[in-house]
Amino acid sequence: MKLWEKGINPEPAIIEFTAGRDRQTDLALTKWDIVGSMAHVIMLENVGLLSKSEKNELLKALHSLFEYDEENTLLIEEDVEDIHSQIEKEMSSILGTTGRKIHTGRSRNDQVLVDIRLYTREEIDKLAFLIRELFLRLQSLSEQHREVLIPGYTHMQPAMVSSFGLWFGAYAESLADDIVLLSAARSLNNQNPLGTAAGYGTTLPLNRRLTSELLDFDDLLFNSAYASLSRGKIEMAVASAIASAGQTLSRLSMDICLYMSTEFRFIDFPDEYVTGSSIMPQKRNPDVFELIRARTNVLQTLPGQVAMLTSNLPSGYNRDLQLLKQLVFDGFNEMRECIEIMLLMMNNIRIRKNITDNPLYNNIFSTEEVNRLVKTGIPFRDAYKAVSQMVKNSSFSRTVISDYVHEGSIGNLCNAEIASLFEKRMSPFRNTPASEFAERLIGHISD
Ligand code: ARG
Repeated sequence: MKLWEKGINPEPAIIEFTAGRDRQTDLALTKWDIVGSMAHVIMLENVGLLSKSEKNELLKALHSLFEYDEENTLLIEEDVEDIHSQIEKEMSSILGTTGRKIHTGRSRNDQVLVDIRLYTREEIDKLAFLIRELFLRLQSLSEQHREVLIPGYTHMQPAMVSSFGLWFGAYAESLADDIVLLSAARSLNNQNPLGTAAGYGTTLPLNRRLTSELLDFDDLLFNSAYASLSRGKIEMAVASAIASAGQTLSRLSMDICLYMSTEFRFIDFPDEYVTGSSIMPQKRNPDVFELIRARTNVLQTLPGQVAMLTSNLPSGYNRDLQLLKQLVFDGFNEMRECIEIMLLMMNNIRIRKNITDNPLYNNIFSTEEVNRLVKTGIPFRDAYKAVSQMVKNSSFSRTVISDYVHEGSIGNLCNAEIASLFEKRMSPFRNTPASEFAERLIGHISD
């Protein structure tokens, strides 16, 4: 059954190709499609397009379908194109004529838009809270190992003294910035497209503000044509936020691979967390971090993929847009898996002390030797020249973290300031599952 069937038997190969992977992908939208439909039904009664008893019947049927899906997972049948069609089919078979009224005043175009936005909001929120867990872990490692010095590198050459406090803290602050992009994506996403129908509105007197309130949208997405045009724009914002967090994880993974190598040996993990080789008995490999690096590098191509998919598309609905779902849904899953495994590893990381006692790193103290002279009144350039003469074979007196006082230096990490910034940036994120909406909306059954 196709919703748009008009007595012509569609060629099966065409149906298969156009449905593509939607029968699986759309399952992520089931709960939100039902919740969106419940809000739509409440609104249709509000504007007189459904009677009270029709609204009640539809709400009950939608709610029990929601509960069925929670326990069994509602499947999309082979001859059904997508989740929107499947749910409409279920309503028609349970309620007959009343069930067939559910599609009044909407199109699958605004239906899929609202589903994606509700799903995306939940995924963004889940991702933000997961990123927060990693942030807190990195900050606590930074505090715990605040005083342990490591060499800081530029051009991959030992440059200046750094610390595990600075290193862990740097990646924590990077996540604080990733949250800003996620929050921007959330704010763009949280506008209601429902009621824009196929992209050109409808002559039915819909109350779009009501569905916005019922679904916790910040406001309407006003212009009907923009609503369909916005498919791709939200995905681009989300993809950029995911890519940004991907960049943080990828670079952290690269540092870890390097710091775990035998030449560095700055950090290590318990045996259960490293991998071996089938031929070389000595190997302790950082496969987890190599895979995080690879997967988050691929995630950084997501904005490019969204751009390619949408470039040169005319306004209005185009079927190309269907493929955005796969890209972005997979993006959320990939990101989540990478952060979860990173968290596990960070809960088990071991760090080595006394690294900078190695004479190999003598020269990382030379810049501060220059500054010591500068403090006695010698011009910087002269001091620099004098110390350059000493670089070949001297050992410089070692700076300690209390020598560093300015904000963001190893002696003054400002972790508390970064934490409060992070918490402030977390304020838009909520944790409201679809089930909470379903419970709220079933409360609109009236006598
Ligand atoms: N599966 C479609 C998508 O994700 C749903 C909308 C179909 N609308 C249409 N006019 N063919 O885009």
